[in-house]
Parts: sequence; structure tokens; C-alpha cells
Amino acid sequence: MNILELNDVSMIYGPVKALQNISFIVQPGEWVAIMGASGSGKTTMMNIVGCMNKATHGSVILDGENISRLNARDLTVLRRDKIGLIFQQFHLISYLTAVENVMIAQYYHSMVDEKEAMQALERVGLAHRARHLPRQLSGGEQQRLCIARALINYPRLILADEPTGNLDETNQNTVLDIFHQLHNEGSTIIVVTHSPEVAAHAQRVISLEFGRLVSDMPTSLCA
Ligand SMILES: Nc1ncnc2c1ncn2[C@@H]1O[C@H](COP(=O)(O)OP(=O)(O)O)[C@@H](O)[C@H]1O
Ligand SMILES: [Mg+2]
Repeated sequence: MNILELNDVSMIYGPVKALQNISFIVQPGEWVAIMGASGSGKTTMMNIVGCMNKATHGSVILDGENISRLNARDLTVLRRDKIGLIFQQFHLISYLTAVENVMIAQYYHSMVDEKEAMQALERVGLAHRARHLPRQLSGGEQQRLCIARALINYPRLILADEPTGNLDETNQNTVLDIFHQLHNEGSTIIVVTHSPEVAAHAQRVISLEFGRLVSDMPTSLCA
């Protein structure tokens, strides 16, 4: 079964056609990069796939379920259970420590378990920063903390919107290493990026232009 299927998805904001007739399928375990100029609709698409927004037209099937028909409450449940979100802006809670930021994600999902939260921090190499506040962490550490938070629910699908956009090369490589690890363990990853270098780590690249899907091909065929 496909993990994700978009059928003729459009998103219209008044006069703006943010997405037009987008269709593609993602298989479980795939790593897909989404590329396109600023304003081409990448974030709009991630927000729809991530159950944070509903498309104006078309259907989205996530793990066998047609999410286009769900109400906001059911979408919240689905997002919590199936999706791990990683953003360019970290959206960390400033007055909670690193381990508490992970635990709050557990809280919304099931139950709080500090040991498990610590294990998630260990996975991203941040155990030694567990008691630090976000402002006491570097940009790369904050992004790794976001990844730990996204992984806490064992999501079926990891969505990352420009996760390396604010990072230097060393931290970018650390994040990519974590993605490789997740991919090897069978996670499905969709990552939006401006960087051809980051996209090259994926197996497949989907390109958007002015809200339209203009190409969808294996990374090995990309110039
Ligand atoms: N809530 C909104 N209301 C109106 N227009 C929007 C909204 N969100 C996005 N857009 C427009 O949709 C287009 C695609 O935006 P976005 O998905 O953020 O692009 P990208 O992430 O590729 O830079 C842009 O023209 C943007 O201005
Ligand atoms: Mg964007």
C-alpha cells in the first residue's frame, strides 16, 4: 500500500493558485525531496500532507485513509499519530528544557516517559544538553532537538520543511546523517529543500513551479 497519494490536489487562496492539480504517490520507505523557488507552493503542500490544512480540491490519501474528508479534530489525531514534523523555524517552547520539549510531544500523543524522551535525545546526539533551554542551544542543536521531538511518536511519515535552511555545513551534515539513519530503519521522509546538495541525498526529486508539479524523477537522473 502507498503511504501517501495526492490526486489532483489544488489549493486556491482568492486569486492565488498556490497549488494546481498536483498528483503523485509515495511508497513506504521512500525518501523524497521537494524543490522549487520561493512561493512555488512547497510549504502549502507540506501543510496539506501534514494535516494542518485542507486542500480546496482533490484528495489526499495518507496511509490508506482519505484525509480530505476529515474534520479538524480527526486531522489533529491523525497528525499526532502518523506524522513527524520538522520545521525550518524550530517552534520550541522557550521556557522548557530540551528533554521537556520532547516530553510535551509525548504528552500530546500518549503518556510522558522521560526515559524514552532521553533516548530520543541520545539518537540525535543531544543527551548532554537535556537540561538546557532552547536559547542555550546552537542552531544545529535546536534543529536536532526538533528532530527528536518529531520522532517521539514513531511517525509513519516524516515531513521536513527546509530543515537545513538555517544551518551551516557541519550541522547540515549531522541532520542528513540522522535522516539517513531513519531512512535505513524504514522511515518515509519528505523533505523540502532549496539545496541541490541536500536533495541529492533523497531517492527522488519532485519539482514545483508556480504551484504546478513540473518534474518527478529519481535523483540519479537529476543533472
Ligand atoms: N494563507 C495564505 N493566504 C494567501 N496566500 C497564501 C497563503 N499561504 C500561501 N500563500 C501563497 O501561496 C503561494 C505558495 O506559498 P508557499 O507554499 O509558502 O511557497 P513556498 O513554500 O514554496 O515558498 C505564495 O504565492 C504564497 O503567497
Ligand atoms: Mg516554504
